[in-house]
Amino acid sequence: MDKKLKLAVIGKPITHSKSPDIHQNFANQFNAKIEFGKDEVTPDTLETWLTDFFKNGGKGVSITLPLKEAALNYADEISDRARLASACNVVYAKDKKLFGDNTDGHGLITDLENNLKVTLKDKKILILGAGGAARGIIPSIIEKKPAKLKVANRTKSKVLLLKKDLEGKVDLKEKNTIFEAGDLSDDFLLDDSYDIVINSTSISTQTGESIGLPKALFTGTKLAYDLFYAAEKTAFMQEALAGGAEKISDGWGMLVEQGAESFKLWTNLIPDTSRLLEKPID
Ligand code: ATR
Repeated sequence: MDKKLKLAVIGKPITHSKSPDIHQNFANQFNAKIEFGKDEVTPDTLETWLTDFFKNGGKGVSITLPLKEAALNYADEISDRARLASACNVVYAKDKKLFGDNTDGHGLITDLENNLKVTLKDKKILILGAGGAARGIIPSIIEKKPAKLKVANRTKSKVLLLKKDLEGKVDLKEKNTIFEAGDLSDDFLLDDSYDIVINSTSISTQTGESIGLPKALFTGTKLAYDLFYAAEKTAFMQEALAGGAEKISDGWGMLVEQGAESFKLWTNLIPDTSRLLEKPID
């Protein structure tokens, strides 16, 4: 690649995004020249920003909160993974068209299976939260045919809506997956034990607090995974450890792996993620 590739990450808040560093690391592996911008963009300014970016030779953009749903409207073609997740975390130009895709689910599954060596097939999985982050990963998890997937959310109506949407898109019977939706009550949470518990709620990022989960929730849990990345253990990770979870992880590996998949879409190059996984960028 002789020409400098014009890339960017957009969202709000965006100041602390590690995407520029991650992609620079990937580019360096191939001596590829990139310029990687970081812009604060809201749903109101998204269309104008994308139009300008691609008019000015932009190749690809990583899309983060709160733009992932809105971004679905601004690509000429949307991949199946983005359609199923109802969210787009990457838009890129190819053959004079704009493509929207979702690499979050791929990032999570790669981190779980390849890096953390936890397989999902026939497992019992609990997801806490039913917002955009949960919607983004659920189709990829179901693809792996867990025995049971439960989603628990503070607002029950929201998780029931998620269930209804999902049943319209995914054939759960064909995957042999039992899907249940409920609230955060002990009755619903403690009705099962879980191999994997995933936190997708935004509480720890907003307040640093935890949901206040029952300790017994983590009995028999092999992995408690927080989708969010933080320098310190998140409140959820601490709760899980105290409850007896065998292993905990934050979402750094998912961030790196979704980035690698996006980089591949932009450049056709497959970066090595191992160095970044070992040592998060400060
Ligand atoms: P995201 O796109 O990051 O998922 P979101 O769509 O705003 O953000 O969803 C945030 C999720 O965190 C929701 O599931 C929310 O629960 P509600 O649907 O009841 O709002 C959950 N959440 C946020 N703060 C929470 C808290 N204090 N306790 C429990 N759940 C919380």
